Amino acid sequence: MYKQLIRPILFLIDPERVHHFIFKTIRFFSSLGFAGIFRAIYLVNDPRLERELFGLKFKNPVGLAAGFDKDAKLYNELSDFGFGFIEIGTLTPKPQEGNPKKRLFRLKKDQAIINRMGFNNKGVFDAVENLKKRHRVLIGGNIGKNKVTPNELAAKDYLICFDALFDHVDYFVVNVSSPNTPGLRELQDREPLTALLKELKKENTKLAKAKDSKPKPILLKIAPDLTNDQLLDIIGIVQDTDIDGVIATNTTIARNNLKSDILLKEETGGLSGRPLGNRSTEVIRFLSQKSNKAFPIIGVGGIHSAEDALEKLDAGADLVQLYTGFIYEGPALIKRINKAIIKRSIN
Ligand SMILES: Cc1cc2nc3c(=O)[nH]c(=O)nc-3n(C[C@H](O)[C@H](O)[C@H](O)COP(=O)(O)O)c2cc1C
Repeated sequence: MYKQLIRPILFLIDPERVHHFIFKTIRFFSSLGFAGIFRAIYLVNDPRLERELFGLKFKNPVGLAAGFDKDAKLYNELSDFGFGFIEIGTLTPKPQEGNPKKRLFRLKKDQAIINRMGFNNKGVFDAVENLKKRHRVLIGGNIGKNKVTPNELAAKDYLICFDALFDHVDYFVVNVSSPNTPGLRELQDREPLTALLKELKKENTKLAKAKDSKPKPILLKIAPDLTNDQLLDIIGIVQDTDIDGVIATNTTIARNNLKSDILLKEETGGLSGRPLGNRSTEVIRFLSQKSNKAFPIIGVGGIHSAEDALEKLDAGADLVQLYTGFIYEGPALIKRINKAIIKRSIN
């Protein structure tokens, strides 16, 4: 029904408007008591889907990737579509508008999206208010820096977000891989990244001690455009800083083998969706093999079918996330992936 009826209508409208419309629609129907119906249709509860990673129990290994619910407005309602975890953010200390519109483009012929949103968000303290209600699902807090903050002072921004979210999320994601904040990806270099992660680890220990609670898992989200040498550096950094895992990958700045019109495919920003799938799997496989499976990996990028998700798991991912596939395939995709994982565990 989604692909035949709903998607053709939604795809007639500007993508950013559709995003807000979908939020309002989901909230409206959930408030009318449809949440139970969504759950009955989409939720798959089965012990074979459960995963325990970095001390957290995931009901299933399929999550919603960062960027969809940036301000943590709709995580409970979104979990009714069957996600095992929801990642909010990227959040920055101060609210910011992001880049001028138009900044989100559908590449229908490629089943892809280009976005240059630029961390538009209402700021971490607004999100904290939204996170104060009871969570029905595990929540990841994806954190970044404000555009106006120079890289030399970036650590302070990440620490502000970390402190603010500490009591309200289950794990953290350090985002240094968005192509839409100028200079951000330079923080992936060995020296600044090691320093940043060490500071966050220190803060983690300090906060856990002060609050008499456990430290939170910290993951690093990386770009698919890193070279093999840079990926080897990432493995070294994860081990040196003793963080809990990696999310591979963010969107790409590459534009290989696209069928869409030249004007569309040359929009600046990060490309997500089908054309990203192979590269993101390659990165997962490389990290998993070269590190000897030393740390958990969340695989994301171009998952549009159950087979795509299984491929990521086979390449070494412990969990998967999706964003663009959710837009193109609709919520039934989550159920299809979970069913396929169960089916495979029977064989
Ligand atoms: C419109 C849009 C906004 C995004 N915003 C963020 C973000 O704020 N932080 C982040 O870490 N990733 C963000 N992403 C990247 C996704 O989380 C994901 O890593 C990427 O899109 C690849 O997965 P996909 O092919 O399933 O979409 C965004 C993606 C899209 C399409």
